[in-house]
Amino acid sequence: MKNLIFTLLLISCISLQAETGKQLAQESGCLACHSVKTKVLGPSYIDVAKKYKSDKSANKKLVNKIINGGTGNWGNIPMPPHPKLKKQDVQEIVNWILTIQ
Ligand code: HEC
Repeated sequence: MKNLIFTLLLISCISLQAETGKQLAQESGCLACHSVKTKVLGPSYIDVAKKYKSDKSANKKLVNKIINGGTGNWGNIPMPPHPKLKKQDVQEIVNWILTIQ
């Protein structure tokens, strides 16, 4: 019984977190250039998740890339920097992106 409650609690935490990352991406204007499934101006988030699946340092790299902007990993179009976003929020968005399947 205890295990069941713990599991349910864990599941609700995970889905809550996923929702927050998604909402933050929406609120931060990321979805103007990205969509989950199809390439827009930037790569689809599914492709990003696939590319970094076995990369242990992906999390840190992507947080920095989103804050500082940059180009070269997906083509020649640069992503503009997002210096005003809180690092913690960007971390939350990256957590969401990397768990998309
Ligand atoms: C003006 C369009 C634009 C906006 C707005 C934008 N992106 Fe991007 N994003 C891009 C482009 C273009 C690339 C590809 C850059 C490259 O080739 O390295 C990219 C790449 C990425 C990548 C992959 C980075 C890599 O090095 O593999 C992630 C993750 C990402 N964006 C997340 C976000 C998030 C989160 C936001 C919102 C805070 C956001 N983007 C807002 C255009 C945008």
